Amino acid sequence: MPATLLEVQPKQPKPRKQKGLLLANIGQVLTLASASAPTGPRRSAALRELRIIHDAAVLCLGGKIVSVGPTKDALRDPWIRKNRRKITEIDCSRKVVIPGFVDSHTHPVFVAPRLVDFEKRIEGASYEQIAAAGGGIRSSLEGVRKAAKTVLAAKVRTVLEDMAAYGTTTVEAKSGYGLTLESELKSLEAIRTAAANWPGTVVPTLLGAHVVPKEFQDCSQKYVEFVCKDMIPSAARRRLARFVDVFCDRGAFTPEQTEQIFEAARQNGLSVRAHMGQLSETRLAPFLRFHPASFDHMDHVHDDDIGPLVKSDTVATLVPGANYFLGWKDYPNARRLIDSGVAVALATDYNPGTSPTISMPMAMSLACTHMKMSPTEALAAATINGAWALGVADRKGSIEPGKDADLAVFDVQDYREIPYWFGSNHCAMTILNGVLAAPD
Ligand code: NIG
Ligand code: FE
Repeated sequence: MPATLLEVQPKQPKPRKQKGLLLANIGQVLTLASASAPTGPRRSAALRELRIIHDAAVLCLGGKIVSVGPTKDALRDPWIRKNRRKITEIDCSRKVVIPGFVDSHTHPVFVAPRLVDFEKRIEGASYEQIAAAGGGIRSSLEGVRKAAKTVLAAKVRTVLEDMAAYGTTTVEAKSGYGLTLESELKSLEAIRTAAANWPGTVVPTLLGAHVVPKEFQDCSQKYVEFVCKDMIPSAARRRLARFVDVFCDRGAFTPEQTEQIFEAARQNGLSVRAHMGQLSETRLAPFLRFHPASFDHMDHVHDDDIGPLVKSDTVATLVPGANYFLGWKDYPNARRLIDSGVAVALATDYNPGTSPTISMPMAMSLACTHMKMSPTEALAAATINGAWALGVADRKGSIEPGKDADLAVFDVQDYREIPYWFGSNHCAMTILNGVLAAPD
């Protein structure tokens, strides 16, 4: 990881002043603890190891997890017995506790939903027909360019709160609906402002290469040069982004342009990730020398790229919400990826065009019903592998002593109910860096 590691951690309350938290009487706690010293994202059979403790308790102090184990052990612990009155104790009444979801792919900085596109698609127009008729990503640009930063920040903040109400504690947030220097920096600043006093963790990404804006319509290479020479250095200098993302696909950016953008990111100390294979197949192996944290969508993957992916730590982040909302019959072939040993994560891809959902339980449900992932695999993909996809697995994605106190309490008896009850929210409470948030 580069020296410019950047994410927006909460400013308030100061972790040391936080009161301790004891979650007791948990029916099932899914620790996702690793069997051995973690060496990389979970693959194949390791994706099915949830390490469940029944009748459990979790102690959190100073925003960190201190211990996790059977409730009866916690209640006998001398430190807990001595300090019981100083800590907040929560009786979880046999509910299920999981690591907070890590939503590793979202586009929250936009102004309005795209209802015309929604209707056109229902009438039969394709993604590319809608874009050619002036809809799609380009139709969200004007709103963001004109919006005040405070307005964008307020929208992002609302989304972060809604996500937390569904159990998400860490969010990757991309710019990408401004596509001028000013509006991309404004979008990243809005993310920073929104995240600053939200108790969860936000990882910002510059997606200046989302699509070629109208002003550069006939000279996309000039736009790429602008992204490389102006946008990336400016965002890096201001420490506004940790990652650079590219939409590498038909109608967006070519593999050659993506390489140039990755190279510029590297020169500016930023890590890379990319939208790959959503509409068409792009060969992936040549990009692995940039150590991308993640390739996202992955509807189309060439057979010969599977082997190199298995050997890399690049995560394949699947976003079935986009396939669902676009009304596609086909979904990414998760079984082929998982069974071959590719590391797979799940994310919402929250955005106004293809996936207007903030719900990680919904992404899990779609993964189970349409991609044949088991509830166990979906849970690990939505937590620990999301953390790997963001380079934060040392602190996020599992319930282990020393990690950040990011937990979600679900009002169910069995974790498999999380993807089972699709469309309704069973998250009763979320703990973000040790701070408790309950849905209204
Ligand atoms: O991940 N594929 C590119 N970007 C988004 C779509 C964004 C939009 O349509 O506004 C995605 O699906
Ligand atoms: Fe996306």
